[in-house]
Amino acid sequence: ISDTPCDILFFGALGDLTQRKLLPALYQLDRAGLLPADTRIIGLARGSEPAASAATSEANLRRFVSEQDLDTATVAAFLAKLQFLNFDFGAALGYASLKTLLDEKPDRARVFYYSTAASIYGMISKNLHDADCLDKECRVVLEKPIGHSLASSHQVNADVAEYFAESQIYRIDHYLGKETVQNLIALRFANNLFGTQWNQNHISHVEITVAEKVGIEGRWGYFDKYGQLRDMVQNHLLQLLCLVAMDPPSDLTADAIRDEKVKVLRSLRPITDDIRDSHVIRGQYCAGEVEGKAVPGYLEEPDANTSSNTESFVAIKAEVRNWRWAGVPFYLRTGKRLPEKLSQITIHFKQQPHYIFDPEQRALAENLLTIKLQPDEGISLHIATKDQGLGKGMQLRQAPLQVSFAKAFDMDRVPDAYERLLLEVIQGNQYLFVRRDEIEHAWTWCDQILANWSDKGDPLPYAAGSWGPEASYSMMNGDGRKWHEQK
Ligand code: BG6
Repeated sequence: ISDTPCDILFFGALGDLTQRKLLPALYQLDRAGLLPADTRIIGLARGSEPAASAATSEANLRRFVSEQDLDTATVAAFLAKLQFLNFDFGAALGYASLKTLLDEKPDRARVFYYSTAASIYGMISKNLHDADCLDKECRVVLEKPIGHSLASSHQVNADVAEYFAESQIYRIDHYLGKETVQNLIALRFANNLFGTQWNQNHISHVEITVAEKVGIEGRWGYFDKYGQLRDMVQNHLLQLLCLVAMDPPSDLTADAIRDEKVKVLRSLRPITDDIRDSHVIRGQYCAGEVEGKAVPGYLEEPDANTSSNTESFVAIKAEVRNWRWAGVPFYLRTGKRLPEKLSQITIHFKQQPHYIFDPEQRALAENLLTIKLQPDEGISLHIATKDQGLGKGMQLRQAPLQVSFAKAFDMDRVPDAYERLLLEVIQGNQYLFVRRDEIEHAWTWCDQILANWSDKGDPLPYAAGSWGPEASYSMMNGDGRKWHEQK
């Protein structure tokens, strides 16, 4: 725990993310005694009055923190740390008041969290600078999406870089704050059993599924401009791919890890025009049923533009062209309105060179390592065993070796990703944050997929509540493989 007192400032303090995730995360840190003493949390918002902003935030805190974690004394202590300043982020005036507020407590670390549209990150940075609110110790946290393409992300990063050094910039990808995602590093690099097998000699392919049950949830205006590739693949799925595929870093420092991730991004086979149709499937949900409840299609959602051809589903066969992974496809898949909320990575190991059991049971002799990010965080390794009991001969049966983190470590709650990420920012650790070159390499790869995307016709329809368009099965099955739910 860092003892340095700290000011944490949120731009966009009344926005959905701050209210739903960030303030509850800080509350949990405070409750666990992890915030440095005398921390100030300063919400910055347009319009509205500070008293009204505080009342809204208190009501939302009670809404978004589970009841069993709310107790009167802790809530009161947390709210005492929270204050608001309401001003227009485009005008110099408000920054002068902010400077006065900051000067009340000099010599402390300042964290500026930008939870606004990325297009104004540069402007906020300049205004903070002009009002003399910045020093060499302060940190800035940038929310995704940083840009809409390589060119626009380059611009946002360049604008912010005029006022902050890279060592002060914390770019969020909240997937990196998930417990099981970090566990990948421990699993791979602390266990010789896996470390020695983690390459094309032993692994046939990798499946990464990030499925969501929800639809657009009132975010049409944002989502329709981005779509699932920009909203989920460019960041979360590629980060997962990097952590699975990267070479061992020389140590756990931020740059050692990020250097290895960049090498993976640079090794991704470009999805050029000639392979785009066979390697990328995009879909858009139509009306269907999720968990027995009828739900509208993407084009029938509130505020929908009925002719949109934005994708709500994408499946990609990615290839990492290096010695470790040559010939091992990474099948990535993510979508809205799929049957369940599930994020998991499945590593499919190759079979033994000579098979001696029942030919019908061959598929059972494939070892599968499943890393479940959510829900029920844990790891399971499917191994082939002899079926138990008399009279079964040498029949095989697949059985899991399973670790559920909640059970194994007796945890009553899994901390939210934002709790961990905010704590790392406060402590000044960058290893769970994305470096500028990572973002830019990820955009380069995605931009190529997106090039001429709109000329390629509409995305393929899939019924809400299904696992996506039929073509995503053909892509996998055509290679003689199956998605996990087909087993
Ligand atoms: C966000 C996307 O980054 O991640 C959302 O913008 C998506 O569209 C969300 O729903 C999923 O996050 P999680 O943690 O619920 O899997």
